[in-house]
Amino acid sequence: MKEANDRTNAKLFVSGEYRVISSREPHSTVSEQYRKLRTNIDYSSFNDELKVINLTSSVPGEGKTVTALNLATVYSQSEIKTLVIDMDLRKPKIHRAFNISNSIGLAQTVINDMALEKTIYKASEFLHVLPAGDKLPFPSEFLLSKKLHALIETLKEKYDKIIIDCPPMTAVTDASIISKFSDGTALVIASRKTSADVASSVVKNLKENGANMIGAILTRVQKRDAKYAAGYYYYYSENYEEVSDKD
Ligand SMILES: Nc1ncnc2c1ncn2[C@@H]1O[C@H](COP(=O)(O)OP(=O)(O)OP(=O)(O)O)[C@@H](O)[C@H]1O
Ligand SMILES: [Mg+2]
Repeated sequence: MKEANDRTNAKLFVSGEYRVISSREPHSTVSEQYRKLRTNIDYSSFNDELKVINLTSSVPGEGKTVTALNLATVYSQSEIKTLVIDMDLRKPKIHRAFNISNSIGLAQTVINDMALEKTIYKASEFLHVLPAGDKLPFPSEFLLSKKLHALIETLKEKYDKIIIDCPPMTAVTDASIISKFSDGTALVIASRKTSADVASSVVKNLKENGANMIGAILTRVQKRDAKYAAGYYYYYSENYEEVSDKD
C-alpha cells in the first residue's frame, strides 16, 4: 500500500475491490453508460451550476462508491478538474480503489489543519481524491462543523466538480447533512433491491431536509429489466419522480 507521502505521485492506480471500469475500459458499454449519466446530470439543471454533487442511497450496498468513482473518472477524462471526497466516515472505502492509505484525509485536513497538498491524492492530472481519513468519534458533528463548510468553499474554488461519496440514509443523518451543503443530490437505487416506496420516502426525507434532488441512478439493472443497455452493469439517471409516482 502506498504511504501518505506518495500522494504527489500522479499515477492513476485502480485496483482491488473497486475496479473503476471507466478508467480501465473507457470504450466499454459500461463506461458509455457512465458518460450518459454524466450528461444527464449536466442537463438536470439549466440554471444552477452543480459543482458539488453527493451520492447516497436508501440502504447499504446499492453501488454509491462504485458510481461516485466512475462518475468522477468520466468528468476527469473530459479534462474537468474533479475531486472525489469520501464522506462515508463510518465505512470509508474510496481509498481502496487507489490503493492508498486512509490514515490521512478529510478528517486531518479539517481537524489538524493539514495542508491539502498532503491529504489529497492526485490519481491523475484531472482526478484528485480526498479519502475520509482516520475514524472520528462524532461524524455527524464533524459534518456540521463550520471548519468543514469552510473547506468545501475553498475546494469549490480549486475544482470544477466535486463528487461526494456518502453513507446510506439508514440510521444516520450524515447524508442529509452533506446534501445541504451540496449543490445536487442523486439517489443510487439498486434495482430489485430497494422498493419504489422506500426510495420515495428517502427522497421525501432528503427534500424535507433541504436537499436539491437532481435524480436517481439505477444500478444492478439486468438484461431482463432494461431494453436500452447491454452488458452486465447498467447505469442510467432518471428523474426521481419516475422512480416512484407516490412522492
Ligand atoms: N451496478 C452494479 N451492478 C452490480 N454490482 C454492483 C454495481 N455497483 C456496485 N456493485 C457491487 O456491489 C457492491 C457494493 O457496491 P458499493 O460499495 O459501490 O456500494 P455502496 O452503496 O457504496 O455500499 P456501502 O453502503 O457499503 O457504502 C460492490 O461489491 C460492487 O462491486
Ligand atoms: Mg460506499
